Amino acid sequence: MATRIDGKAIAEERTATIARETAELVAGHGVRPGLAVVIVGEDPASQVYVRNKQRTAERCGFKSVKHALPADVSQNELLGVIGDLNADDSIHGILVQLPLPDGLDETTITQAVLPAKDVDGFHYVNVGKLAAGAVADAFVPCTPAGCMLMIERELGKDLSGKSAVVIGRSNIVGKPMAALLLAANATVTVTHSRTSDLPDVARQADILVAAVGRPNMVGASWIKPGAIVIDVGINRIDVDEGGETRSRLTGDVDFDGAMEVAAAVTPVPGGVGPMTITMLMDNTLRAARLAHGIHA
Ligand code: GUN
Repeated sequence: MATRIDGKAIAEERTATIARETAELVAGHGVRPGLAVVIVGEDPASQVYVRNKQRTAERCGFKSVKHALPADVSQNELLGVIGDLNADDSIHGILVQLPLPDGLDETTITQAVLPAKDVDGFHYVNVGKLAAGAVADAFVPCTPAGCMLMIERELGKDLSGKSAVVIGRSNIVGKPMAALLLAANATVTVTHSRTSDLPDVARQADILVAAVGRPNMVGASWIKPGAIVIDVGINRIDVDEGGETRSRLTGDVDFDGAMEVAAAVTPVPGGVGPMTITMLMDNTLRAARLAHGIHA
């Protein structure tokens, strides 16, 4: 039976460290990290994510600001809000919650955030640093950064000789995940919906990262015995419980099946999700330090 990687507990531990370091930054330098979250429209899942991010920011002792804009806000108005936050010295990190409603161009918006305040790691300056292997110098997207931390806890920082397979090629997860694994010396394969013989490819992986958004797609037969399995999927499915239909969160991996074969598996919920939020806090604390020329 595999180990269940407790993302919630790892995230709690890390959040406590960030809160302590924040208190030291405030006491020693008079600098309080500031995080601004911009949310456009009423998407219920985004509302939940934003609330969790704000709650964690407050627990860390950050200044936390939310800008909630209506779904019909114009692109120029939204760019104006980002411009004001770029110019605000009390704000060190800016996050625009995605997806944006129709009519707003995500690329234009994400590229309007100053690279030094881009705690999501979506600006092409940060994307480019990561692609060039300058990991320590980049703001790394929070979900793959959190996945990497869990992988390091299982296997150490050097993944030489390990084969890693990433399922999914999104800009938010798949591509930056592959860059991080490569920077850690893993031999990396990125797969996607057009990959043939995906189960066979997945079965080669010592480290398998699933980020596709297809509930329970990765079954036990896809997993190499002894692999580390990281499940990035967050899928809401309806399940029948005693004649009643209930909504439940599930990942891209068949968790029970994976636990029979793998060495370690992240659950959903309680795996990657809490780590993502913690890495956002990590990036914001780092942005605040860098803005003031303070070394950790
Ligand atoms: N929507 C889903 N994941 C993310 C994320 O990591 N950052 C932002 N800004 N929006 C998201």
